[in-house]
Amino acid sequence: MFNKTQPLTQVICARKFFTTPKLISDELVVHRDTNDNNPEVPFQFTEANMMRIAAIIQNYPKGAQRAAVSFAIDIAQRQMGWVPISAMHKIAELLSMPRMRVYEWATFYTMTRRRFRGKFHVKVCKTTPCMLRGSDIILQTVEEATNCTVGGLSEDKMFGLDVVECQGACVNAPVMVVNDDYYEDLNVCDVYNIIQTLKCGGIPPWGPQSGRASCEPHCGQMSLLEMPPPPGFMMQDALIGSEVSKPPKPKSK
Ligand code: FES
Repeated sequence: MFNKTQPLTQVICARKFFTTPKLISDELVVHRDTNDNNPEVPFQFTEANMMRIAAIIQNYPKGAQRAAVSFAIDIAQRQMGWVPISAMHKIAELLSMPRMRVYEWATFYTMTRRRFRGKFHVKVCKTTPCMLRGSDIILQTVEEATNCTVGGLSEDKMFGLDVVECQGACVNAPVMVVNDDYYEDLNVCDVYNIIQTLKCGGIPPWGPQSGRASCEPHCGQMSLLEMPPPPGFMMQDALIGSEVSKPPKPKSK
């Protein structure tokens, strides 16, 4: 209880302060130069990637080439495995945009790796639906199987582990993403099998590991059982045109 005779400094010191817990995987938003990531380290896109970027830029009107920034960052990441600051500068130059705009994009999305995260970047979702479906135990299992802590790299640099917010597959929680592949409906055994397969050079089948084809109920599909209607279904005759034959009515299964 607050005692009125107590000096104010003591009262303040006795108070507990709570802050949002820091996740080790949180990337520092501010760039700090390191030996392998500073503006002096040269970066060039490969010839094939330059052609890809040129083709993507063609999709946008003249003067709006900066709209290709997300693609250019993705291409840089696929070339290097991560996006160094010199790659961001190169992208700014290619797309005639301020460097700051490229930094903004690269620091906003967790899919941009701003440092080397191993051959396989494992991201475990910890948002509420995944948490309620056991993401804590999934994370612990990944740590054990990869011998890697959150925010770190395994000793052989094969795995990098991070925790992330919702990956957009909540209905198949718990979810873990390895590079581009989603692994869903996970249990402890699945995690060990997936990591072991990756260690042996294989690519485990992605998607739900429970046997579901997609996100239908575990007891099987209960809706949308009929074949979907063909194109033109329910359209006015005038819109279909006289020369086009009317689409057939959809059949029940
Ligand atoms: S909460 Fe994990 S995928 Fe949405």
